[in-house]
Amino acid sequence: MTKKVLVLGASGLVGSRFVELSSNYFDLLTPSHQDLDLLNFEDLNAYIAEKAPDAILNCVAYTNVDTAELEREDKQGLSYQLNSGLVEALVKAASEHSAYLLQVSTDFVFDGKKGSPYTEDDIPNPINWYGQTKLIGEKFVHQEPSFGIARIQMPYRANFIKEDGTEGKKDFARFFYGNLSLDKPIKVVTNQIISPVFVDDAIRAFQVLIDRKERGVFHIASTNQITPLGFACEMAKQMHVSQELIQETTLDHLYQGKAPRPKNCALNTRKFETLSEGVLHSTTEGIKSFLQQVS
Ligand SMILES: NC(=O)c1ccc[n+]([C@@H]2O[C@H](COP(=O)([O-])OP(=O)(O)OC[C@H]3O[C@@H](n4cnc5c(N)ncnc54)[C@H](OP(=O)(O)O)[C@@H]3O)[C@@H](O)[C@H]2O)c1
Repeated sequence: MTKKVLVLGASGLVGSRFVELSSNYFDLLTPSHQDLDLLNFEDLNAYIAEKAPDAILNCVAYTNVDTAELEREDKQGLSYQLNSGLVEALVKAASEHSAYLLQVSTDFVFDGKKGSPYTEDDIPNPINWYGQTKLIGEKFVHQEPSFGIARIQMPYRANFIKEDGTEGKKDFARFFYGNLSLDKPIKVVTNQIISPVFVDDAIRAFQVLIDRKERGVFHIASTNQITPLGFACEMAKQMHVSQELIQETTLDHLYQGKAPRPKNCALNTRKFETLSEGVLHSTTEGIKSFLQQVS
């Protein structure tokens, strides 16, 4: 029987792509802000009780890392409320109504000091408030051992047009592409290690995790590591545009005066790949798929 999946954050960069790619796969519930105030936990619980989803995918988050930093240690702040408080309420409601919960999380739970890609067994140690609030959210999810957490790294998608026809939040790859296709230069970090995931791969991974009601943490990323510079050069190569448009900068320089960012953000995907082969791809393949889809 088709699973009924409640998608929270269905208008966001990740959640909206899940909806686009999953409507033939799951029976989807996608309440908007108007339908359901997620920070009214009584309403949230009543909605879950009434709709009785088999699974809940939580893509809601306060994702602006720099404005989140201005709310450091503030448990009344929206960043804490959405990234931690809402997750606590969801864990309770999902357990009470026997729904599986897949919580989307981030590489920013790590401090970036490790010399190789992070595995699910590495100990988180966030260096900014966004990462801290996401980690607190994860801790709530661990209270129910049958639930899952998918940590993703720098998701990027080819097209993101919102329901009102405006362009959705720009990810780094659409920013690179937009500039390179107009022959405009881009400033790109040379000293950060990343494993950005093409969003369609992340969505397929979520479908697998939800289908199997997988427990515990999974790292969902590209199968290789790269620097932002390496990513931009590969994109320019596949677009057949001049690499001279790519100007080098450093992490500290780009984010001067902003919330600190981890230097090594790469996630090791072996655990997920053992579970399901062929879902995750390399950045070269991700860029190829991006360029095939972009309009
Ligand atoms: N984007 C990244 O680079 C990145 C990297 C690693 C991990 N992640 C994780 O991936 C997940 C999805 O991120 P994303 O980039 O897709 O986020 P996003 O584009 O910022 O979308 C956030 C979603 O949360 C909803 N939301 C925000 N405030 C809300 C509120 N007060 N009440 C109800 N809904 C609210 C938004 O609805 P509205 O559109 O109506 O505001 C939107 O649907 C998050 O867990 C994030 O931590 C993202």
